[in-house]
Amino acid sequence: MERFVATGGCQLVGGVDVPGAKNSVLKLMAASLLACGRTTLRSVPDILDVNVMADVLRALGASVERDVAEGSLSIDVPERPTAAADSDLVRRIRASVVVLGPLVARCGEARVALPGGDAIGARALDMHVSGLAKLGAVVDVESGILVARSSGRLQGASIWLDFPSVGATENLLMAGVLAKGTTVIDNAAREPEIADLCAMLVSMGARLDGAGTSTLVIEGVDELRPTTHDTVADRIVAGTFAIGALMTGGDVLVRGGRADHLEIVLDKLTTAGATVDTRPDGFRVRAERPPRSIDVVTLPYPGFPTDLLPQTIALEAVSEGVSLITENVFDSRFVFCRELSKLGADLRTDGHHVVVRRSDRLVGTHVAASDVRAGAGLVLAGLVAEGITSVSEVHHIDRGYAAFAEQLRLLGADIRREPRGGPDARRDDR
Ligand code: EPU
Repeated sequence: MERFVATGGCQLVGGVDVPGAKNSVLKLMAASLLACGRTTLRSVPDILDVNVMADVLRALGASVERDVAEGSLSIDVPERPTAAADSDLVRRIRASVVVLGPLVARCGEARVALPGGDAIGARALDMHVSGLAKLGAVVDVESGILVARSSGRLQGASIWLDFPSVGATENLLMAGVLAKGTTVIDNAAREPEIADLCAMLVSMGARLDGAGTSTLVIEGVDELRPTTHDTVADRIVAGTFAIGALMTGGDVLVRGGRADHLEIVLDKLTTAGATVDTRPDGFRVRAERPPRSIDVVTLPYPGFPTDLLPQTIALEAVSEGVSLITENVFDSRFVFCRELSKLGADLRTDGHHVVVRRSDRLVGTHVAASDVRAGAGLVLAGLVAEGITSVSEVHHIDRGYAAFAEQLRLLGADIRREPRGGPDARRDDR
C-alpha cells in the first residue's frame, strides 16, 4: 500500500490543468454500449476508476484501447454485448451500475452485481429499480445480482424521482433513449456531468430535451450510432485546487476549470477571503488574507457539491471563526472527521451537521483516506499542518485524482508518494 507524505507549510502557487471528470467519463463509457461500433472519448482522466470501467466493458465483449498520453479512449462495442457484467469488477466501483440501463435497453437483459464504491453511506438503488420497472423491465435481486429483463423493447413512461439522484437519472436516461415512445424523467439530477451525457447521447442520434434541467423529455429511437465526444472538465478536481489555493495562502490558475460549474463554491471561497478571476482559459484563485469561516450546506447541483465537503471541512479547520457544515446527500461522509481530528482539527459532529472551530494549529501525523474526497481533504490538511503528515490508502485518491501528488508538487507543495515501509515508515506505527 502506497501513501502520500507531505511536509506542511507550503503555498500553492502556479497553474494546474483540470482533466475530464471522473463522474462523467465513467457514464460516457457506459453509454458507448448503446451503439454497435467504435466510440472515441477524449479528455479522459488518467485515474484508476477508468481502468476498472474499461475492464467492465471488456468483460461485456467490448474492445477498449486507451492512449494515456493523448487522454483518449476507444471503445469498440459488438453487435451483441454480453448481458452479464463481471461481479468482481462491478463491486469495485459504484459507477458501474450505470451499465444496467444501456444493457437492458440493448440486450433485453442485464445482470449487474450490487455495486461497491466509497464507504460514504447506504447508497440505495431503489430509484434505479423502480424507474426501470416503469419502463417495462422486471427487476429482481438474485444472489446479490440485480437482474433486469424486458420481454420486448422497453416502453417510454413518466418517471418522477423522489430525489434528483445522479446515478438513477443516468441509468433511466440511457434506458429511455432506446425505449419505444416518450420517456419523461421529472426531478432529474441537473449536474454538468448529466448534461455532458445528454450531449453525447444526442451526438449518437438520441432525441431528447431538457439537458441540465430537472425535466428530461426523451423520444426513443430504434438505434444509436457510435460517436466521438470530449469529456466535460472535472469540477470537483478544479474545486479541490481552488480550496487548496485559499487554504495555503496561495495563488493558483485552474486551467480548464469551469467557473460556471462551480458558482456557489467560488462564491463561498470569495466570502472566505479569496479573490477569484474568471478567465477564458479557466479561473484564478488568490488568497488575499487568511481564510474566514463560512457555513456550507451540501445539496444536489447547483447546490454546494457533497464531493467538496471534506476539502471544505479541512479549509474550515484553519479558518478564523466557527463554521457550520451540513451534509444532505450521503449519510456517512463525516467518517472523514475522525481522521482530520487526528491532525488536531476541532470538530463536533451532530447528525448530518459538523461544527468546525479554528484550531490553534494542525500537527502532522499518520491518517488514512476512507474515500476519494476524504483522501483529498486529508492531503490538503497535510499541506498546512506542522511537520509531516502521511496519508495511507492512497488508492482511494487515485480513483479520482490523476497524479495528485505530482500536480501539487508542481504548485510548490512538499509532497511525495512512497511505498508503505518507505523512509518514513517508522512514523507509522498504527
Ligand atoms: N439514493 C437512493 N436511492 C437511489 C439512488 C440514490 O436513496 O435509487 C440516495 C443515495 O443513497 C444517496 C443520494 O441518493 O444518499 C445521492 O445519490 P446519487 O444517486 O445522486 O449519487 P451517485 O450516483 O451514487 C454520484 C457520484 C458521487 C456524487 C453523487 C452526488 C459517480 C460515480 N458518483 O453518485 O461521487 O457524490 O453523485 O453528486 O458519479 C465521488 O466522486 O466522490 C462521489 C461519491
